Amino acid sequence: AFIVTDNCIRCKYTDCVEVCPVDCFYEGPNFLAINPDECIDCALCEPECPAGAIFSEDELPDGQDVFVELNRELALIWPNITEKKDALPDAAQWDGVEDKLEHLER
Ligand code: SF4
Ligand code: F3S
Repeated sequence: AFIVTDNCIRCKYTDCVEVCPVDCFYEGPNFLAINPDECIDCALCEPECPAGAIFSEDELPDGQDVFVELNRELALIWPNITEKKDALPDAAQWDGVEDKLEHLER
């Protein structure tokens, strides 16, 4: 499956959801999660993310392993999202800030 990782937090640009052929993105307050059981590994979402936050599970950057289980867990709790919306207001300031996990809202 593909995984949404740290740099989505507090940005949530949502460009990713528009290209997903199986609509497997789920929306929290300041992060999106992919349901790994629904993702068909098409890779279309990866280049769409302006924050570069989406990776194949097989190519996760160092330190991002925690997001594998987080995507699975949160996708089951949060509502589905299929249409792009405005990014969070401070997205530009938070894009590229490291280790935003402490800011994740549920
Ligand atoms: Fe959706 Fe394809 Fe991205 Fe999986 S890899 S989340 S199926 S767009
Ligand atoms: Fe997040 Fe990137 Fe999608 S910032 S909402 S994974 S476009």
